Parts: sequence; C-alpha cells; structure tokens
Amino acid sequence: MDHKISRLLIVVLFAWGLPGTVWAQKHSPAIDTLPKWVVTDPFYPKYHVAPPFGWMNDPHPVYFKGAYHLFYQFSFVRDNPYGRIGLAKGQRPQRTWGHAMSTDLVHWKHMPVALISSLHGRPNDPHIFSGAVVDNNGTGTVLYTINNIDIWMATSKDDDLATFTKYPGSPVIKGPPPGLDISGEMRDPWVWKEGNTWYMIIGSGLKGGKGPVIPLYRSTNLTEWEYVHPFYRADSSQFDFLGDAVFCECPAFFPLGNKYVLVLSDKTTYLVGRYEDHRFIPEKRGRLDYGEAPSIKDGGIYVPEFLLDNKGRRIMFGWADSWRSVQHTLQDHIKAGWAGMQTLPRVLTLNEEGLIDAEPAEELDKLHGDHREFAGIPLTPDSSKILDGVKGLQLEVKAVFQPGTSTNFGLEVLDVLDSVSIFYDVASRSLRYNQVSVPLDLKRGENLELRVFIDGKTIEVYANKKVVLTEQLKPESEAGYRIKAFARDGMAVLQQLDAWQMGSIW
Ligand code: FRU
Repeated sequence: MDHKISRLLIVVLFAWGLPGTVWAQKHSPAIDTLPKWVVTDPFYPKYHVAPPFGWMNDPHPVYFKGAYHLFYQFSFVRDNPYGRIGLAKGQRPQRTWGHAMSTDLVHWKHMPVALISSLHGRPNDPHIFSGAVVDNNGTGTVLYTINNIDIWMATSKDDDLATFTKYPGSPVIKGPPPGLDISGEMRDPWVWKEGNTWYMIIGSGLKGGKGPVIPLYRSTNLTEWEYVHPFYRADSSQFDFLGDAVFCECPAFFPLGNKYVLVLSDKTTYLVGRYEDHRFIPEKRGRLDYGEAPSIKDGGIYVPEFLLDNKGRRIMFGWADSWRSVQHTLQDHIKAGWAGMQTLPRVLTLNEEGLIDAEPAEELDKLHGDHREFAGIPLTPDSSKILDGVKGLQLEVKAVFQPGTSTNFGLEVLDVLDSVSIFYDVASRSLRYNQVSVPLDLKRGENLELRVFIDGKTIEVYANKKVVLTEQLKPESEAGYRIKAFARDGMAVLQQLDAWQMGSIW
C-alpha cells in the first residue's frame, strides 16, 4: 500500500477509536495499587466502593457470569477530581467508565478503565456519559451516551468484562427521537429484554421546560433501534414531587413483586405502577433515599441504579456524597485527590403497602469485626447510655427499641462537629435525622429497628427497612465516633443492640 495512504488509514482508525482496547490501556492510569494520598486518608471509605483516585459519580451495575460489576462515571485527573475546573464555558466534564468487580458483593477489586474516548482530554472529547450494561447471550454489552444525545455501543469478549471494543456502527441511536419535541439533550439509556425484543428508555426533557420525558425505543439485535413513543412523561400535577425538574437523568425500570417500578434520579424518586401498551402508568410514589444535601431538591444520594443477580434479587447502588462535594467542598476534594462513592448494595422488595423496602445485602455481615452487645436496657432521660467499647470510623450499629412513654428515642452519633440524632418522633410519627423528618408509621407494639452504617464521613441509616437515608458526618477528629442510645421525655427499652467494627472491602 502507498505509504501516505497507509498512514492516513492509521490516523483515521485511531480518530474513529476502532482499536478501543489498545487506546484505553494506553491512555488510562494503572489502577492496581491505590495511591498514597488515598491510603493515608483516614476518611477514605473502607467498605463502600469509592474511586481509586479522581472523581466518581453514577453507578452502572450488572451481574454477569457469576460476578458483580460496578461500572461508574470516572474522571481520573488527580488535581481535577470533578473534571470541570479549567474547562471552557459550555465544555463538559471529561468522563470515562471506571470499573470495580466482586464475586461476593462484599470484596471488590479495581479493574482497568472500561471505556474511554479516543479523543479523551481534547477539546472535542465527546464525553462518555452514563448508560447500561446488559448480558446479550453471554456477551457483555454496554450502551452509553455520547455528545449528550447519541447512544453508542461497545462489547466485551472477556468473562470479567475487563476490556471493551466499540461497535463500529455506532451510534446505534442518533437523537433526538422523531416527532418528540425534546430540549435537545437525551442521555443515560436503561435497557431490558422482553421475549426476543430489547427495549431502551432514555432520560430527556421537553422543550420549553415542560417537564421530564422518557422516550422508548425497541430493537431485536441491540444495533438497530426504532423509536416507539414516550414511555412516561411527567404531567404538571406531578411537578410538586419533581420540584423544578425539567429533565430526567438516568431513568430505570424493572418489575418488583407484582408491580413495575420507574425510578427517576431527582430526589431518588420512584414510582410504582402498571406497565401497559409499553407505557408506564404511575400509581404510588416514594423515595429510595431521604438524605438531604444542602439543597432540598437534591437527595443525599443521586442516581440510584440496579442489577438483578442470580438469586433474583434487585440490588441498588447509588452515587453518594454527590452534590455536597460539588457545591461545598470542591477544594477539599481536590486536596484529597478523590471524590464520590457508592452506597452499600441495597436489596429492594415491594412491601404490603405497595412501596419499596430496602435492606443492606446480607453478605455485608462478612465484614463484621469486633462485636459489642447490649440487651434489655431501660432508657430514660437520666440513663441515656454511651455504648462502652463502641468507637470507630467504620461501624455498623443494629438496634431494636421498644417504644414506651418516651416521645423521642434512638441513637446519637458523638464526636461530630454538628450533633447527629437519629430517632423516632412519636408525635409526628416520623423517623428523624436531626431536622430531616420522614413519615414512619410504627404500628401498636411495633419496635423501631435501626441499622446504622458509618464509614469515614458517610452514614447510612435504615429504619424498619422503610426509610433509608444517607448523610455526611463532620467528624471532630480522626479518633472515631461514639454512639449513645437515648430516650427523651419518658422511657423506652433498648431491647437489643449489636455493634461491630467493619472490615475493608479491598
Ligand atoms: C447524572 C449525570 C448523567 C450523565 C452523567 C455524566 O449524574 O449527569 O445524566 O450521563 O451524570 O457524568
């Protein structure tokens, strides 16, 4: 071949990104050992999946060939964890897909960067945004967002999904959907299969701020897609719960119990309803996480995403420590060299009220270390109890309270700059986390069952499986937190409390 033509061909191939695997290896950082600044950071999470360095946001979990995979949005520039600083106005953060893998849902290892654009770091980087991973008859297949409007595809030949190659016919969908008046952006596909047909919903919003809309596509081969119709569109009467949302990011859809669930990222809202004529009809709604970041609009977590494992469990992960880090502690994160983490894996079920219950996956018990136990302790305002021997930065506390005459009873986390109380408020029939108040209707004779997971600066609270919330702690020092059980205005019984030091997932 003529020398010039062969050189041109090589350039074209690289620009096109065909040698995706090679490109990813050459341009991604090695991830086999954690850098010093992470290892020595006392507040780096020990039992939540966090980025090896750099920035993590949305999870893209999948169960594939006997293992759990957590892909995630990843910006790996150390001094620029959010990937935004120094970008020209209108330029988007440079995202890749990071990857962690686990065979037991507890212990994880970091894998090589899974997807990276061949234009990564250049001004015209098309940005590999969120998407979905599916098992297409044994081939790991990723559908992901490019340029905030098109959907591309990549496949993996590896059983451990270590490397992906871009499907050369990408984009498999070129937005916008015909006849749907969207605002111009469309992203974050979610994909499932019914019979021999694949379906995909994508997050979007109607022009003129008329609200979120989720277009539906279908395909028989994952490469040729046909737009069907809007799968769901929020009407203005639903705007009260969506706040001022005009766009739906990262929608997710799956059956649960005898119903269907549509999850919208805003406030981690989920809708339970019917699925008819390939449209979603909501009947009830709730939130997967009631944590409050500084702005009420944003939950303590954002973008809950889900996998279905070989035991038939619908397992959720969510991007934790999210907006807070963007809005308030960006400089801290730059100093730390990492930002963002995922919630614990949460197993979802539909309860008798037709709403979603969530529990941490039972496998997490494997992390239990030093154990302290307390039983049958009457609590009054004078006898509130600091738990002997319970102190640390990584703790699980599981407590059962029997209500009595007390108006407020629960746990307090000590050694924090801002006080933290997690308690049942009898008058308002709600679970309280400081000022955050979430309805929780304990029936007559029903106990308050709290599970609290502390990991560095993050706390996850589960109350009777019905209320889950994730918040950020402000520790006083590196010495670790202590825990107090209390009852105000009257008496309650601490029936049982187990506390464990939690081990590392790495
Ligand atoms: C949600 C989101 C997605 C987008 C991704 C970019 O957090 O904004 O809509 O695909 O993050 O990282």
